Amino acid sequence: MTMNKIPFERLYKEIVDLLDGPETIYEKLQKICKLLRDEISYYDWVGFYLVDGSKKDELVLGPFSGAPTDHKKISFGSGICGQAAALKRTFVVPDVQKETNYLSCSSSVRSEIVVPILKDGEIMGELDIDSHEISPFSHEDQEFLERICGLIEKIL
Ligand code: SME
Repeated sequence: MTMNKIPFERLYKEIVDLLDGPETIYEKLQKICKLLRDEISYYDWVGFYLVDGSKKDELVLGPFSGAPTDHKKISFGSGICGQAAALKRTFVVPDVQKETNYLSCSSSVRSEIVVPILKDGEIMGELDIDSHEISPFSHEDQEFLERICGLIEKIL
């Protein structure tokens, strides 16, 4: 549990500006991953999974910051990411070792938050964050990340 105050509002504004920039969507998502991982100590892996337009029930790994993962494709319903996609809602997992439907990337990961990116009720992708801490994600994290996904939805 971190005791430092996270500058969510400043980061949100930086992301608003970043999304307004000239880069491609992929480059913008990559910058968001790096910014979040650099600025928030307990965000140890930050990445996007995107829904492939031709395969509506599969997530494909997009831009990410952190250790490479074997989970480059995830079927809807599989793991935390697949469940968040199937149910179209945020999953906050304070302790991944207590989960039965979980895809492990590394034994260092202790907790995870997955926020779907929805457009007109359709799942377009999701933001996935792993932490090496137990139970670090607060309601503020959830609200902040859902607001970011709300911004990204508008450029997809
Ligand atoms: N842990 C995820 C898999 C993706 S990695 O965290 C990057 C899951 O259970 O869906």
